[in-house]
Amino acid sequence: MKKTVTILLASLLAAIVGCASYEPLASMRGADVTAADPAPEAKAYVGKRPGTQPVVARTFSTQPPVIPHAVDNFDEVTLTENQCLDCHGPANYEKKNAPKLGDSHFVVATKAVDASRHNCTQCHVPQVDAPALVENKFVGNIK
Ligand code: HEC
Ligand code: HEC
Repeated sequence: MKKTVTILLASLLAAIVGCASYEPLASMRGADVTAADPAPEAKAYVGKRPGTQPVVARTFSTQPPVIPHAVDNFDEVTLTENQCLDCHGPANYEKKNAPKLGDSHFVVATKAVDASRHNCTQCHVPQVDAPALVENKFVGNIK
């Protein structure tokens, strides 16, 4: 009987101490889990007019190179319009002094641009200067 009471009192004490030291969890996004996500701050792309900056070093083989220049002034890629091709396509890249599309972007037999590569920005993206959200130890495989 005496033992049961001791155990009961000990558990009660543990519960009280436990409650007193309770601190709410702080989520990484800085808001309660039930709160709606605030819209992230809009950041401007860092690139300037094409032809005025070096290309960005690639970090792993088979990486689609990132777009170093501004794209804000270009129209959306549509079924019939593609301003990216106006500079990077086989017809104009020399005249525009722009890097030519990757070899993998052409149909081997016809030498035409493969339709699966028409939507350039599905793989190539412009850049913003943003700090990493979490510590990042990524090391690429390109020296
Ligand atoms: C007015 C011509 C022009 C247009 C339009 C243009 N680019 Fe470029 N692009 C360039 C030039 C010139 C470079 C070389 C780097 C620089 O000076 O910006 C380049 C660089 C690039 C690179 C880097 C290549 C590498 O090897 O790292 C990619 C990727 C790219 N552009 C994709 C695009 C995409 C996608 C679009 C359409 C949204 C586009 N470009 C529209 C001229 C152009
Ligand atoms: C399905 C993904 C994908 C799409 C869509 C795509 N690319 Fe690429 N691109 C890549 C990859 C991956 C590479 C690097 C390897 C290579 O050359 O294939 C690359 C390479 C390039 C390069 C550098 C070529 C070199 O010789 O270094 C340019 C310029 C480029 N792409 C422009 C474009 C443009 C402009 C479009 C739209 C007409 C486009 N890409 C569509 C994936 C893509």
